[in-house]
Amino acid sequence: MAAPGENMKINGDRLWESLMDMAKIGPGIAGGNNRQTLTDEDGVGRHLFQDWCVAAGCTMGVDQMGNMFARREGTDPDALPVYVGSHLDTQPTGGKYDGVLGVLAGLEIIRSLNDLGIKTKHPIVVTNWTNEEGTRYAPAMLASGVFAGMHTQEWAYAIEDSDGKKFGDELKRIGWQGDEVVGARKMHAFFELHIEQGPILEAEGKQIGVVTHGQGLSWTQVTVTGKDSHTGSTPMPMRKNAGLGMARMLELVDQIAWSHKPDAVGAAGHIDVFPNSRNVIPGKVVFTVDFRSPILATIKDMENTFRNEASRIAGAMGLDVAFEKVGGFDPVTFDETCVTAVRNAAERLGLSHRDLISGAGHDACWINRTTPTAMVMCPCVDGLSHNEAEDISQEWATRLEK
Ligand code: GLV
Ligand code: MN
Ligand code: MN
Repeated sequence: MAAPGENMKINGDRLWESLMDMAKIGPGIAGGNNRQTLTDEDGVGRHLFQDWCVAAGCTMGVDQMGNMFARREGTDPDALPVYVGSHLDTQPTGGKYDGVLGVLAGLEIIRSLNDLGIKTKHPIVVTNWTNEEGTRYAPAMLASGVFAGMHTQEWAYAIEDSDGKKFGDELKRIGWQGDEVVGARKMHAFFELHIEQGPILEAEGKQIGVVTHGQGLSWTQVTVTGKDSHTGSTPMPMRKNAGLGMARMLELVDQIAWSHKPDAVGAAGHIDVFPNSRNVIPGKVVFTVDFRSPILATIKDMENTFRNEASRIAGAMGLDVAFEKVGGFDPVTFDETCVTAVRNAAERLGLSHRDLISGAGHDACWINRTTPTAMVMCPCVDGLSHNEAEDISQEWATRLEK
């Protein structure tokens, strides 16, 4: 058999066509996608993926969290499968590639092996993890977290979306609650391909990101309570303006992240204002603070500083404030053997590469706790992601194209 890079090549046109076909399901309003987890669109996307996998000769397993596992048999009955994959769910204003590339690239590996008549010793399993994004149901990477034993299934099933619909009920409703016990599968290794979602590879003209670490994350949901009252007739000294309290706390989030530069970031992407009426002083706001860093102590420090200072702001304004940790994981070090395998493969194939720390969370971050895991990244235009304009080139996505 020829060496990798000589004749073991994927069909880049086919991968690209599948990416574009998947993107037709749950189109966004600006050229991207809105295929949020456990929506009807998620269900349709899953069926399409399943049909493709079955056509490629795989058997599909689905676990009780809706995680999908498409298996191509190996030649050694004792060899544990090598897993590859990512997620098919998207942000409400998401791109076509975040997650989807990793799943469909896994499928393309299987299709290419079929074309080339190659049997592998280990089975290969392509995975679609449920609810990576965490928009509709916090936290992110929910089902890979249950798989890795970080959350219980009962807890996950009881999480509600903003309409009060429970995760477990919605999973059943779209028809993707499987029978398999979650986390029962044993893996030889797990690899996740993902777009970088940051600017480094493109800026440095590198083709491959070898992901050595992932930064950790902390999500704190904050509820500030004041009093709804008339914007015109309530005298300034009598106001209990929860919206203003939040504004001061958001400034604080930014200051805290800057004060830990260059190894920290912070923002609040989720904000709900009640009653959200032009002439009512907001009596309640709920928002989620997202702090991240590759250094665990920095995350803890940012969390604590925020809680202390936000409580002080609320106290000075006569507001109540409550904090709830709704998501988080510690910084991740990926498996050295798997990382080295990725780096060596890039080297052998003559692809330019550099080591990266992932800024985003990924299912690989949880699976790494149970299985030797690594990630591969490709560049994306302007480092833009979680935006419908997220873009990659076919060339970037398909380095081993024929
Ligand atoms: C997941 O996409 C995250 O990084 O929040
Ligand atoms: Mn992703
Ligand atoms: Mn994402």
